[in-house]
Amino acid sequence: MQLADELRRRVQAGSLGPGDRLPPVRGFAATLNVTPETVAGAYKRLVDEGYLRGEVGRGTFVAAPPLRAEEDPLAPFEAAGSLPPFAQASTSNELLRLASRPGVVSFAASVAALDLTPVEELQAALADTLKTEGASALQVGATQGYPPLRAAIAHLLQQRGLDVDESIVCVTSGCQQGIDLAAKVFVGAGDAVLVEQPSFLGALEAFRARGARVIGVPIEADGLRVEALPTLIQRHRPKLLYCMPTYQNPTGRSLSSEKRRALLRIAAAYDLPIVEDDSAGFFNLDATTSAPTSIKADDHAGYVIHLGTFSKVIAAGLRLGWLVADPAVFDKLVAAKYASDLSSDALVQRAVHRLLVEGALDAHLRRARTEYRHRRDVLVAALGEPDALPPGTRFDPPEGGFNLWLELPRDGPSSTELFLEAVRRGVAFVPGPFFFSAGGGGPASAAALRGLRLSYSALAPTELRHGVELLSDALWGLATGSRPSAAVVY
Ligand SMILES: Cc1ncc(COP(=O)(O)O)c(C=O)c1O
Repeated sequence: MQLADELRRRVQAGSLGPGDRLPPVRGFAATLNVTPETVAGAYKRLVDEGYLRGEVGRGTFVAAPPLRAEEDPLAPFEAAGSLPPFAQASTSNELLRLASRPGVVSFAASVAALDLTPVEELQAALADTLKTEGASALQVGATQGYPPLRAAIAHLLQQRGLDVDESIVCVTSGCQQGIDLAAKVFVGAGDAVLVEQPSFLGALEAFRARGARVIGVPIEADGLRVEALPTLIQRHRPKLLYCMPTYQNPTGRSLSSEKRRALLRIAAAYDLPIVEDDSAGFFNLDATTSAPTSIKADDHAGYVIHLGTFSKVIAAGLRLGWLVADPAVFDKLVAAKYASDLSSDALVQRAVHRLLVEGALDAHLRRARTEYRHRRDVLVAALGEPDALPPGTRFDPPEGGFNLWLELPRDGPSSTELFLEAVRRGVAFVPGPFFFSAGGGGPASAAALRGLRLSYSALAPTELRHGVELLSDALWGLATGSRPSAAVVY
């Protein structure tokens, strides 16, 4: 592994160039004082990853680089260079600290609204649970979860078009744990993982923590660029693909039905597990259409691991979610969960079960959807006011979820520059680089620096309007200082 890592690093850094011949296995092994199998194993690994190629009778060579950018529209997205400023994990805490200073209107949190939390219903459910079940509600239960809750989740998932048996539903400590478990089961150091570009920071962090090579696939108006997958899969041999087909975070976009079918065909053709993060799936905000169904609903071959969460549906602090996976994979994920935390919170599982079976959750969801739709509309209307945004700024009103993705004009400030100015003026958001897996130059980092996420779910309408005013001032202040003056009305 060490040898493979070092050789990979040298190829990436360019000190080993395309066509360079690597030392013969035996001689190299003797120099390094390791067995020939060690060297051969490292070479094989890098051949599999596409960094080296073997030629029978001639030796092992550094493989040709990926196609040049102009020939290969994906190459810049795969660049493994350094991330633009702000994107390192350590800075996300700093950003949150700035965003949560008193008095700052924060568009940074993609969360359920605190003011809508069904506190009384939860209070009653917790009290009833303790009253009727006593101490047994506080025992550690099965890793898969409290059986009645698993059954209730299977029932709830009918709303996402899923008809699953409770035996393949596992309660998790949030969707983030589901992502982490999939990473633990499928991904090792140096393995490739495909993600949408931009993607959810928590997932990027989970894959990076495994030492994965995280490779971004551009996302378009109708979702992930599925046509690019075969090439990327052949080139990188990823261990899994992580995606949010419905109301993607941060863009709010959804994968079209044709692309959903194509994605499942590709998974089967290349034996590629897919992690479907459906954490926004219950939040269709379009009054006339319904949310696209989960891709797991059409996954007859068992490639999809479906993840969901009560974080958005009730409250994130409950730390409760679920995964659905076909039996062979399910058992591995459950074993990984056992190693992580034995089981999720027993009391919370029972209380949430009560909310589900008593109908309180459905009532809450209806109220929350109506309120989020209103908040989305207020944000979209405020951004659409004349001169709210400098020319060239664009966004698509999201059809669901919690977030709006704003793209700044190419000739203006970057989203990280804007962030600093915005925080000074009392408004915060999450700048684009947080959502990108790589950005060593080219379109990926340009897109990262142009984009920013505005989350509307947690802000009251008055805050949304005020926040847009402050953001608008920050944008015009940095752009040219030449905001058109208000029209004089006689
Ligand atoms: C897309 C997405 N996936 C997963 C999570 C994590 O969810 P949980 O709180 O259930 O761990 C979030 C939280 O913001 C999210 O936005």
